[in-house]
Amino acid sequence: MRSLLAFFIAISDLAGYKSLVMLMNKGRKIRHRSVVFPKVQLSLGYLKKMVNANLMSGNLDNSFSALMVSGGGESGQAQNGGLGTILSGWKDLPMELLLRIISVAGDDRMVVVASGVCTGWRDALGWGVTSLSFSWCQDHMNDLVISLAHKFPKLQVLSLRQIKPQLEDSAVEAVANYCHDLRELDLSRSFRLTDRSLYALAHGCLHLTRLNISGSSNFSDAALVYLTSQCRNLKCLNLCGCVRAASDRALQAIARNCDQLQSLNLGWCDNITDKGVTSLASGCPELRAVDLCGCVLITDESVVALANGCPHLRSLGLYYCQNITDRAMYSLAANSRVRGKGMSWDAGRSSRSKDDKDGLASLNISQCTALTPPAVQAVCDSFPALHTCPERHSLIISGCLSLTSVHCACALHPHRAGRAILSNHAY
Ligand SMILES: *[C@@H]1O[C@H](CO)[C@@H](O)[C@H](O)[C@H]1NC(C)=O
Ligand SMILES: *[C@@H]1O[C@H](CO)[C@@H](O)[C@H](O)[C@H]1NC(C)=O
Ligand SMILES: *[C@@H]1O[C@H](CO)[C@@H](O)[C@H](O)[C@H]1NC(C)=O
Ligand SMILES: *[C@@H]1O[C@H](CO)[C@@H](O)[C@H](O)[C@H]1NC(C)=O
Ligand SMILES: *[C@@H]1O[C@H](CO)[C@@H](O)[C@H](O)[C@H]1NC(C)=O
Repeated sequence: MRSLLAFFIAISDLAGYKSLVMLMNKGRKIRHRSVVFPKVQLSLGYLKKMVNANLMSGNLDNSFSALMVSGGGESGQAQNGGLGTILSGWKDLPMELLLRIISVAGDDRMVVVASGVCTGWRDALGWGVTSLSFSWCQDHMNDLVISLAHKFPKLQVLSLRQIKPQLEDSAVEAVANYCHDLRELDLSRSFRLTDRSLYALAHGCLHLTRLNISGSSNFSDAALVYLTSQCRNLKCLNLCGCVRAASDRALQAIARNCDQLQSLNLGWCDNITDKGVTSLASGCPELRAVDLCGCVLITDESVVALANGCPHLRSLGLYYCQNITDRAMYSLAANSRVRGKGMSWDAGRSSRSKDDKDGLASLNISQCTALTPPAVQAVCDSFPALHTCPERHSLIISGCLSLTSVHCACALHPHRAGRAILSNHAY
C-alpha cells in the first residue's frame, strides 16, 4: 500500500503537480479526482528505498494472493482488503500516467501489479513488455504465471528461477501457449517440472536461444532430445545437474540440431562419456564455454575433441574430471599455437584485439589430480589470458597439490611482449 502511495508522490515529484493534473484531465472518465496528491518533494533515491522496503517485506506476495483469490487479477477487487481494494481506484488513471509509473519504477514487480489491476492499460502494457522476472515470488509463482502469461504475448526474456521449488508444468504450458516470441528462459531449480514442460516449450517457443534448466533434475533425455529438434537456435544451454536429461544420446541430438550453440553447462551430469562430448565438439563449432565439472567418466578424448573442434573455446571447466591427463593439456596448448600461427598471417591492425578475444581465458582443473606441472605450464604459456595471480585466478588449480610449481605470469608484460614481437614480424 505504502509503495503505491509512494508512486503517487514520485509522479508529483517527477513530472510536477501541474502536468499530473493535466494528464488526469485528459484521461477518460475521471472518478477519482478527489485523490489527494501530496505536494511533497521526495528524492527518487528515497522513494526507491521506500518501495523496495515494502516489496522486500513480502507484502507483495500477500497482495498477489489477494488478487489471485479474487479471480485471475482481472477484476482486482479483493474482498479481503489488501492491495486489490486500494488499487480499484487506479483503473481510470490515464495511460500516460501509468506508462510513466512503469518507466519510473523500471521494476518488473510494478509491471505485474499494474497489469493485474488496470484493465485498459494492461493490454497496451502487455504488448510492450518484453522482459519479466518472477524470481522474487516466494509463494505464488505458479498461479501468477498462469494468470498473467496471456497478457504478455511479446515476452522475450522470462526468469522463473526459484528459491524454493514451486513451479509446475501448468505454468510452463501457459507460457508456451502464449509467449511464442520467448528467447530466454530461466527455469532453474524447478524440481517439480516434468517432461510435459519441455514438450510444451518445444511446441510453443521455437525461438529460444537461452535456456537454463540447471537443477531441474526430473527431465528425461527423450524430452531434451525432442526440445533440441524443435528449438534449433539455442545458443546457451544450462543442464547443470540434469543427470537424467544429459545423456550421450541427448548430446548427440544437440550436436545434430543446435550448431549455433555457444555455451553448455553439463556440470555433474555424471552419466555422459566421451561419446557424447566428441559428437558435441564436431557438431557445435561455435562453442565458447563448456563446463564438464564432475563428469567423472570423461577422459582426454573429450578434451582433445573440444580443442580440435571448437576454435572459439574461451572457458573450460574440468573440475573433478579425474581421468584427465597431461595429454588433454598438451592438446589444448597445441591448438592455441596452430591458431596463433594462422592469425599472424593476417594479423595487421586487429592482432591485439584478437589476442584478447581468442583462446582460453578460463580453465578450471581443480581436483584433476593426474595432471603434472609441465603440461599445465604449457597451457598456461599458450594462452595470455590464463593466469594464477592472487584474487583473480583464471587458471584454477586448487586441490592439485602436485601443481604448486605452476606459475602463470600475473603482470601481462611477458605475454604481451612476446605477442608484440610476433605481430611486428607479421607486418
Ligand atoms: C542458470 O541458473 C543457475 C541456478 O539458478 C545460475 O546459477 C546460473 O547462473 C544460470 N545460468 C545462466 C547461463 O543463466
Ligand atoms: C518426476 O516426474 C515423474 C513424472 O514424469 C513424477 O511421477 C515424479 O514424481 C517426478 N519426481 C519428482 C521428484 O518430482
Ligand atoms: C546413464 O546412461 C545409460 C545409457 O548410457 C542409461 O541406461 C542409464 O539409465 C543412465 N543413468 C541415469 C541415471 O540416467
Ligand atoms: C571450479 O569448478 C567448480 C565446479 O564447477 C566450482 O565449484 C569452483 O568454484 C570452481 N573454482 C573457481 C575458483 O571458480
Ligand atoms: C578412469 O581412471 C581409472 C583409474 O584412474 C580407471 O580405472 C577408469 O577405467 C578410468 N575411466 C575411464 C572411463 O577411462
